[in-house]
Amino acid sequence: MKVLITGAGGLLGTSLSMTLESYNYEVYSGYNVSLPLYGKPIKMDLSDPNQINRAFEKIRPNIIIHCAAITNVDMCEQKKSLAYIVNSISTLNLILQAKKINSFFVYISTDYIFSGDKGMYKENDEPHPINFYGFTKWMGERYLKTVDIDHLIIRPSVIYGTRPASGKINFVLWLLEELTRNRSVRIVTDQYVSPTLNTNLSQMIIEAIEKELTGTYHMAGAERVSRYEFAIRVADTFGLDKSLINEAYMSDMNWIAKRPRDSSLDISKAFRTLKNKPLKTKQSLDIFKEEIESAIRSNN
Ligand SMILES: NC(=O)c1ccc[n+]([C@@H]2O[C@H](COP(=O)([O-])OP(=O)(O)OC[C@H]3O[C@@H](n4cnc5c(N)ncnc54)[C@H](OP(=O)(O)O)[C@@H]3O)[C@@H](O)[C@H]2O)c1
Repeated sequence: MKVLITGAGGLLGTSLSMTLESYNYEVYSGYNVSLPLYGKPIKMDLSDPNQINRAFEKIRPNIIIHCAAITNVDMCEQKKSLAYIVNSISTLNLILQAKKINSFFVYISTDYIFSGDKGMYKENDEPHPINFYGFTKWMGERYLKTVDIDHLIIRPSVIYGTRPASGKINFVLWLLEELTRNRSVRIVTDQYVSPTLNTNLSQMIIEAIEKELTGTYHMAGAERVSRYEFAIRVADTFGLDKSLINEAYMSDMNWIAKRPRDSSLDISKAFRTLKNKPLKTKQSLDIFKEEIESAIRSNN
């Protein structure tokens, strides 16, 4: 079975390509700048439709998992045309190519398609993005529903994992770095999310593909926590000094784009359907710690 992953050098793409390879899928790893660690690398700048067409002609994948996006929320607000081209238009181009050869389309969407007014969003709640990033990702969902193609939409929230990807570190790695160096940090108490471990998410996505699920699924951590509460749990897991974590409010932050106040996701549909369940915060942080320790052991 041939799988083409876009953004295969990214935070989710790396873990997905690694897991799919270990399950003996034939993995083609699309990238623009960051060379993927797993799978056969396929250079494909998504802002160029010709590169998308060439990749499809060459690979003819049975499944495409579209992870690539400009995920920097502030950059999307500042560079709207680029964000629209990469996150929305390229998704449409990928869908049209997939449709031609009947590939199954898996689209990684986001909790940021919701306004954040109520939290614990269910799959059929009405999207109402409040920033441009959320809007571009929601357009991807809308294109999928417009074109008649077999598809699966997956919405995670605040993804984290053990290694830097695409030239940047994620929230948990950043926090660990700061606390380990005894630097104090300010974390917001009034923003709620469902933090998602990339390896747990990859296993859920692969199981969903194998079960041939279609439609929309919230696949995220099984707990709604504030960013502050999450940071405290990270410090607890690693025995680091919690007093370095100071409370802040969203209104104190110099963010360019607005953030949803509560974009936590109701994951009960995925929980009911999958054997690989969305994990609670403590469970996933414990696994994350084991993953880090095992990576350190294998480097020594
Ligand atoms: N991270 C989160 O907290 C989060 C939360 C909810 C949903 N999501 C969604 O989950 C998906 C994966 O997120 P992630 O955190 O793994 O993202 P990431 O680490 O930022 O990786 C994004 C990937 O997109 C690729 N990309 C960007 N512009 C491209 C272009 N013009 N052509 C080809 N590839 C391009 C990048 O490849 P290069 O480096 O090679 O350019 C990179 O590998 C995204 O669709 C995101 O919207 C993420």
